Amino acid sequence: MAVDVANTVKHRRTASVTSLRETKKGCDVSNRAEIDPIVTFGAGQYGLTVLELAKSLGLGVAAFVDKSLPEGSNVQGIPVVGFAALRSRFSTPPPAVVAIGNCMARERVSSRVDALGMKRPTLIHPGAEVSPSAEIAPGCIVQFASLVWTGAVLGRGVILSPGAYVTHDAVGGDNCMVANQASVGGQVRVGARVLVGQSASLCLGVSVGDDAVVGAGAVVVRDVGAGQVVAGVPARVLSQGEIDGR
Ligand SMILES: CC(C)(COP(=O)(O)OP(=O)(O)OC[C@H]1O[C@@H](n2cnc3c(N)ncnc32)[C@H](O)[C@@H]1OP(=O)(O)O)[C@@H](O)C(=O)NCCC(=O)NCCS
Repeated sequence: MAVDVANTVKHRRTASVTSLRETKKGCDVSNRAEIDPIVTFGAGQYGLTVLELAKSLGLGVAAFVDKSLPEGSNVQGIPVVGFAALRSRFSTPPPAVVAIGNCMARERVSSRVDALGMKRPTLIHPGAEVSPSAEIAPGCIVQFASLVWTGAVLGRGVILSPGAYVTHDAVGGDNCMVANQASVGGQVRVGARVLVGQSASLCLGVSVGDDAVVGAGAVVVRDVGAGQVVAGVPARVLSQGEIDGR
């Protein structure tokens, strides 16, 4: 099987388990003061959606870190700083949210953020639903109208876009993304860095290997191998390999 089951079990053990009461507050730590304000890595389209999410949770954004923008500029009034300037600007490492839609880039930047010792809160929109028995690791972004249901597990850095469903006992591997209105069915295993395209459906119990891409609107009825790109109803293999800019 393509998905790393051992790693999945590790998620279960190490995930920061959030009670429903805590997740309703929208973060994975009980002391809110510890995560306010945040620094957001990525000031592109995805960064702006996270800015709105932070606002809906009443969290401040102290700075954006985005190497494609000049240091000293600002985005919606929030200063852009470089990685190197973080130490001089903040006496202790600020909590960080990596707001980069591309799964591989998100993983790369997250590793650097972790190496700096920055706390990575999970942000959960107040309009999302999270089962008390779900486990969500740090660094996830759970957007409006999404669902993390009974016994589901999300690894580090998982993004659920608006309306994404991760249903009972399903596992989302580190840095995967479930796009708008996609549905991950019961007991499905989604590997690391997988993109589940918008409105796709993953049927009961299938496994999707690391780095795979499930096309928009696909209905996945069989296992998908690592790195495969699948699309259609039922989903068939289109190609094997990384898709740029996914
Ligand atoms: C599946 C996907 C990754 C393929 O991208 P690609 O490798 O660049 O493929 P191409 O656009 O070259 O298309 C190759 C073929 O597959 C078909 N195809 C592409 N995406 C498809 C899809 N989602 N469903 C069915 N067929 C699809 C194309 O029509 C084309 O068919 P043809 O050879 O008969 O003309 C991409 O189309 C996709 O669905 N990405 C998901 C986007 C998404 O939901 N992002 C979420 C963030 S908003």
